[in-house]
Amino acid sequence: MATEFGKTTFTGLGLGNEPVPIEPNVSAAYFEREREKIFKRSWLCVGRVEDIPRGGDFVSTHLDVLGARIVVVRGADGQVRAFYDICRHRGNRLTKACKGNTHGFVCGFHGWAYDLAGNLARIPDQDQFHGIDKSDYGLKAIASDVWNGFIFINVDPARTETLEEFMAEVFSILDEIKFETMRPAGSYAARVNVNWKVFMDVTQEAYHVPFLHKNIVPDSNTGKGNPFCRIPSFRLYERHRSSTMYANPDHKPTAAESLAYKYGPTVLEPTTAAGALPSCLNPDRVPSWGFDSYVIFPNLIIHIGNGWYITHQFWPVAVDRIYWEFKLYMSPATTPGEKISQEFSKVLARDLTREDLFLVEQVQSSISTGVLTHMPLSDQEILLRHGYKVVDEWVQRD
Ligand code: FES
Ligand SMILES: [Fe+2]
Repeated sequence: MATEFGKTTFTGLGLGNEPVPIEPNVSAAYFEREREKIFKRSWLCVGRVEDIPRGGDFVSTHLDVLGARIVVVRGADGQVRAFYDICRHRGNRLTKACKGNTHGFVCGFHGWAYDLAGNLARIPDQDQFHGIDKSDYGLKAIASDVWNGFIFINVDPARTETLEEFMAEVFSILDEIKFETMRPAGSYAARVNVNWKVFMDVTQEAYHVPFLHKNIVPDSNTGKGNPFCRIPSFRLYERHRSSTMYANPDHKPTAAESLAYKYGPTVLEPTTAAGALPSCLNPDRVPSWGFDSYVIFPNLIIHIGNGWYITHQFWPVAVDRIYWEFKLYMSPATTPGEKISQEFSKVLARDLTREDLFLVEQVQSSISTGVLTHMPLSDQEILLRHGYKVVDEWVQRD
């Protein structure tokens, strides 16, 4: 819905307006329920198809929240598949590197070999096993599917939803975005001492921007017309949500910004020419638009601007610890000017997120004392309110 700065309240959305409990962000028991009811049942994004463009390309990663290492591989047939990275003999991990290209997976323990489709192809000295059938010992497969080039997995053997059903209202919404033409121009990752939702919260509201980021972006997203960086429009879906970020049309670019604008899109530049955008972006046609932000339940946030997008992934490790991954995607730079421009966006994004990182660790430390039991949320924090409701609905499910 579009909002009018200063006039709209959101009490009619069924989310209430009372303070929200803090317990879900500090309770180890609640976190264990999130692990079982959310992360072991949801579709989870584990990368992009461009990460594994050729047959035999693979990525592997340990996902603490699942307690398992997974490998995602593109087969010789072009198909993307996901497996537990566990040898079916006595359970050794198969991949030695986090990414690479291979003809198959050979276990370093006793040499069992699997093809790219997960079939067990060879058992050394097989005669010494009794009645073993190789077809019974392929790699344990994990459901996988692709949405707009984002690879998702789902480890729930009893899942009832396809990825398309899980994405629901947002499944086709971003079809116009040419994600596949962009590549990482910068990436950051960190282990952060914070609950996964607390960090996602700071990425879903702009109320903090004029305060926490006052030195880095003093007037990019605030100005006379919008001094508190209110969000001009947002959309709440059943479990996902999106919002539109305001950009100040009167923002005075610094010398470095002016140079960056000249050679390419940057994460700061306001876009006023709505007609030049894919119609899915800035759906309410806000006159001065910064970017749109999609929160894909449970742990993926995609900011989409004019000529760039950013992904944040928040991988829980414990109730107060996450592994956070950030990637900024742009069209590959073809000139030194474009490269300089992209470096500007990369460094700016780094500085902003470092302020967020520092802050959320402070917040987690404070709320872990138990001194506070609830947090009052303003209408500008409506996405957070929606997020806590959706999480709790999943946590309370059978
Ligand atoms: S554990 Fe892999 S071959 Fe024995
Ligand atoms: Fe921030």
